[in-house]
Amino acid sequence: MATMITMPKLGLTMTEGSVLEWKKNEGDTLKKGEIVLVVATDKLTYEVEAPNDGLLLRIAVKAGETVPVGAILGAVGEKGEEIDLKIAPLEEAAPPREEPAPEKDKARPSGDLEVTEPAPAREGTARRVVIIGGGPGGYVAAIRAAQLGGRVTLVEKESLGGTCVNVGCIPTKALLHSAEVNRTIGEAVEAGVRVGSREVQWGVVQERKDQVVKQLSEGVKALLSANGVEVVTGEASFKDERTIVVRSGGGVGEIESDAVIIATGSEASIPLIPGAGLDGVVTSTGALSFKEVPSRLVIIGGGVIGTEFASLYADFGCGVTVIEMMHRILPGADGEVVSALRKVLESRGVTVHTGAQVRSIEAVGSSLVVSADLPGGEERIEADKVLLAVGRKPFTGGSNLEAAGVKIEKGRVRVDRSMRTSVPHIFAVGDCCSPIMLAHVAMMEGEVAAANIFGLDEKMDYRTAPGCVYTSPELAWVGLTEEEAKKRGHKVRIGVFPMIGNARSLISGETRGMVKIVADDKYGEVLGVHIMGARATDLVSEASLAIRLEATLEELAETIHGHPTFCEATREAALAGLGRTIHGMPRV
Ligand code: NAI
Repeated sequence: MATMITMPKLGLTMTEGSVLEWKKNEGDTLKKGEIVLVVATDKLTYEVEAPNDGLLLRIAVKAGETVPVGAILGAVGEKGEEIDLKIAPLEEAAPPREEPAPEKDKARPSGDLEVTEPAPAREGTARRVVIIGGGPGGYVAAIRAAQLGGRVTLVEKESLGGTCVNVGCIPTKALLHSAEVNRTIGEAVEAGVRVGSREVQWGVVQERKDQVVKQLSEGVKALLSANGVEVVTGEASFKDERTIVVRSGGGVGEIESDAVIIATGSEASIPLIPGAGLDGVVTSTGALSFKEVPSRLVIIGGGVIGTEFASLYADFGCGVTVIEMMHRILPGADGEVVSALRKVLESRGVTVHTGAQVRSIEAVGSSLVVSADLPGGEERIEADKVLLAVGRKPFTGGSNLEAAGVKIEKGRVRVDRSMRTSVPHIFAVGDCCSPIMLAHVAMMEGEVAAANIFGLDEKMDYRTAPGCVYTSPELAWVGLTEEEAKKRGHKVRIGVFPMIGNARSLISGETRGMVKIVADDKYGEVLGVHIMGARATDLVSEASLAIRLEATLEELAETIHGHPTFCEATREAALAGLGRTIHGMPRV
């Protein structure tokens, strides 16, 4: 029997729709899921898919005609099949992808209570969601919106995966992995393994990094496709608050939207230092693809990017100098843990200058010379390459946000905890708006924004966002530092456990570091956890959960941890906070 294509019901209040365009002709072969025609209501356009494989046997309603919901628009079946094109009554219409209508009357409280109507998004599942930007914020939002039943279009001007996958977290970590292998081989003799000569093949390191990036970017593409997200390559901008214009090499198009998520990311900040534009002065993107490992690298900025690249290039044998203007590197992290990391970096040959002011960068012969005011006086430091790592800034240009009335505040798109901008149906996620510019935070914001488009009431809780620094050893933290907790008036209790007392760390030769827990003294509630050591970026998830669940030192200590594992150090730090560490010396 032929299958009928009917006018879909795209919202609770929709009673009729028009056929905008047939994408196929009578007699054409169809594949299930292929777009057959486009229908429109006064609010939106909707692409109708083939219900199954077969031939388009009949077109019953021509382009331009308006018919009731449930009316038969065409028929799909096998050649020669009989078809009965009677118009189905409205009640019989089986709208595709429609959620059951909310049980309003049953749910509605009786009496004089004020009842808030469900958000309009609840009305139907065919809301057209447009996402601008395919980084971690954008692509995660797209998948979540599609899961919730949206018709999702994601517009990306470059590569899927954004900064994180293409020129950020992923390629850096791929290079760090090669650096770690190189360092581990250097330590092989201590583990009882004699290896032959060791040589870094930089070309192969680069190829491997590019391959990892390609695989993950293609993985994002596959996930989007599997979730039914339409991906458009081009640059998107607002024409008005509902219409998105997409420009690409091939031309210009427009998409009508019910909701939009802005996920346009960030760009590197370039400091106003004379010589910042010279050849050989790069941002993190350039530092990922040096043609060879530089002999001397000066890094301006000792934040997350600065310290990760310092650790990375030191492991490849490069002489690294970090120049940081604040009085310590990683200014946002716990002071005690950061001092420990600084010592490790210095022991690996990294020179760290803090409280320093860079004056200029000059090209002298084939070298670059960085002049800086250091606490001990002015110094000229020679380098082959200079990395600028002084922060990133939200990227809000190019999308014509003004046309939609989206407000910008201090350079960021202004959002509330629901990720809603100043325009109710427009949301923003990730570096373009977030108080914390991290990929994992952007992903969570993407899920929250998508959920709110569909009437769920979700809000961001930034308390559980960990900071992860992939140096060697790694640094990770969540919650308040000791300094912050004291500033906020907490009487704090501190539990510290050094990794040297952790069996697994000793086995792995990774004894540098510690777990430090900052707890409130009254009930022992965990306020912050700061970890330096192997797999710190993995260990921190337990701490995030502890903060989410408002766990206490007792509860961490009462939880049995596997042995021997790195994460036992967290339990021991909790025990230390309770004054009863088992595997560590009592703190004096
Ligand atoms: P950042 O904000 O972490 O650090 C910038 C550092 O540069 C600060 O310590 C600042 O005091 C210093 N600085 C600023 N101007 C300076 C100057 N003129 N001279 C010397 N020092 C100066 O920014 P960063 O490291 O560039 O990272 C950018 C963003 O990317 C951050 O939001 C970071 O969280 C994110 N990111 C995260 C990673 C991760 O989670 N593992 C890895 C890489 C980047």
